[in-house]
Amino acid sequence: MIRVEEFYDQLSSKYSELIIKCVPRYPELMDNMFRYLPSDFQPKRILDLGCGTGNLTELMLKTFPEAEIDALDISENILKESRKRFSQIPNIRYIQADFKSLHLAPGSYDLVMSTIAIHHIEDYHKSKLYKEVYQALTDKGIFIFADQTRGITDEIYHKNISSWKNEAFKLGSTQENWDMWMKHQDAHDFHTPVPWHLQELANAGFTETDLLWKYLLWAVIWARK
Ligand SMILES: C[S@@+](CC[C@H](N)C(=O)[O-])C[C@H]1O[C@@H](n2cnc3c(N)ncnc32)[C@H](O)[C@@H]1O
Repeated sequence: MIRVEEFYDQLSSKYSELIIKCVPRYPELMDNMFRYLPSDFQPKRILDLGCGTGNLTELMLKTFPEAEIDALDISENILKESRKRFSQIPNIRYIQADFKSLHLAPGSYDLVMSTIAIHHIEDYHKSKLYKEVYQALTDKGIFIFADQTRGITDEIYHKNISSWKNEAFKLGSTQENWDMWMKHQDAHDFHTPVPWHLQELANAGFTETDLLWKYLLWAVIWARK
């Protein structure tokens, strides 16, 4: 079985084209990553966890052009795509690292964000990551992430997967694309229900936690220090 970084290394040049055909309401999901940020919130340092080819990083740059952004990912090739995309932008630092062994400097970010990446690690590592993010945030710092989640029952989960398949085909995914994502899902995905995430974020120390938006498997979750 290939490792998750090898999967994204191989997919890197096609990733941006494939993801919009795979994730239903991807632009709406991205929009909801920023919708609930307080109007007077001006982060100086931002972390993008699992930045991929930079779809979220681009929105960070548009929303907070003055901020210093750390774009972190495990895949070397996907980071190369991101570097190419933002070659003219000086305020991005690229970090190749694994969520499972992350050590972030205490109080180093005002905002940490992530889209569709955290489900690639097991629940034990998710809990550790939430603690790491908590200590890396400044006072009142915000952590917002979007991810694939599991239904609270198997029936809900399987209905969501089946609706996802219909929608992915409507978005232009082929059977070959779908089979590739499903093979990837079986090998590298660990979907966890929303209430679990909210509880683990509270356990990590976050004082505010909320579900901001959800469609099928995809949820946008808020946590504030
Ligand atoms: C589905 S892509 C999402 C990319 C981007 N955030 C977006 O919305 O388009 C998942 C990303 O998470 C990265 N990733 C997976 N497992 C990781 C890990 N253990 N540590 C760091 N990054 C990881 C992958 O390399 C990939 O770029």
